[in-house]
Amino acid sequence: MSYPSNVRIVEVGPRDGLQNEKIIVDVNTKVELITQLREAGLTYIEAGSFVSPKWVPQMAGSHEVFAALSMQPPSNLDITYAALTPNMQGLDRAIASGVKEVAVFAAASETFSQKNINCSIDESLARFLPVMAKAKSENISVRGYVSCVLGCPYEGPVSVAQVDEVAQQLLHMGCYEISLGDTIGVGTPASTSALLDKLLASIPTDKLAMHMHDTYGQALANILIALQMGISVIDSSIAGLGGCPYANGASGNVATEDLVYMLTGLGIDHGVDLDKLLIAGNNIVAKLNRANGSKVACALSPEA
Ligand code: HMG
Ligand code: MG
Repeated sequence: MSYPSNVRIVEVGPRDGLQNEKIIVDVNTKVELITQLREAGLTYIEAGSFVSPKWVPQMAGSHEVFAALSMQPPSNLDITYAALTPNMQGLDRAIASGVKEVAVFAAASETFSQKNINCSIDESLARFLPVMAKAKSENISVRGYVSCVLGCPYEGPVSVAQVDEVAQQLLHMGCYEISLGDTIGVGTPASTSALLDKLLASIPTDKLAMHMHDTYGQALANILIALQMGISVIDSSIAGLGGCPYANGASGNVATEDLVYMLTGLGIDHGVDLDKLLIAGNNIVAKLNRANGSKVACALSPEA
């Protein structure tokens, strides 16, 4: 079995994680978390989102978060702090906050698209066109998400052809990478493999990333399949924080600690210091007054 020699971890805890926690943490706590994640060696961190604060109040302080991050001393590493932007208003707010990389997010399910961003899939893609054009003119790279790639909380099964169609359109409009979101964590190694078989027929491996929520405990198994199929960018969330506000009952992404442990075991380079990661995870779960969602963190820090 062959694996990539190294994996780029996209840490989504400060966004995907905190957007769905009941306790809304303040800007200083977010900045402290992001700083600890960076000190642990994570070089790509989704630090917030510029969506409607009426829809997702947890992300309301993103401008202040990015302002604080811009004051950090320079790092030896090339650090990317990214933000979600659903429309032009979001992109304009991101630009005003000094953001250098953004993500647009579409769905492979019509109902999820309506519930999440209040428009159809086609309307969302049309809405992204001016976002892509302005981002390009501002030298801002754009990542694309496709949600519900292995199932929808409202519609159930989602066709692989529909995922392919949305992913192709996002690539065509200029997204440099597509993150495949198993929003409700229902995928299995079999469905992940079937999905990737289809997508990889026309999309190169280095254009795809995996974004596996762990609701059914399948995330690491699904990621292992993706690694075996040549994908080397994996999203994860510190301490397994979060979920999606418009996918009831969905738990967070695969915990970063668990991903790092598995990658280390496979001999795959990831650049992250697990001990420092444990500190970051235990610190934020204490602030959120919740259990640590990482099995590795629980095993290695039983007092947490
Ligand atoms: P809408 O109500 O259709 O927007 O919401 P609108 O354009 O009609 O505007 C209505 C109001 O929202 C106006 O304010 C706008 O100014 C304001 P009002 O006049 O009523 O005071 N507004 C905004 N405010 C701030 N920032 C903006 C913005 N846009 C409009 N960017 C909208 C459409 C997309 C804004 C809304 O549906 C929304 O914010 N949804 C939240 C989506 C979200 O954050 N979901 C979670 C992230 S996605 C996710 O978790 C999945 C992912 O992890 C992958 C996976 O797991 O599958 C990525
Ligand atoms: Mg997500």
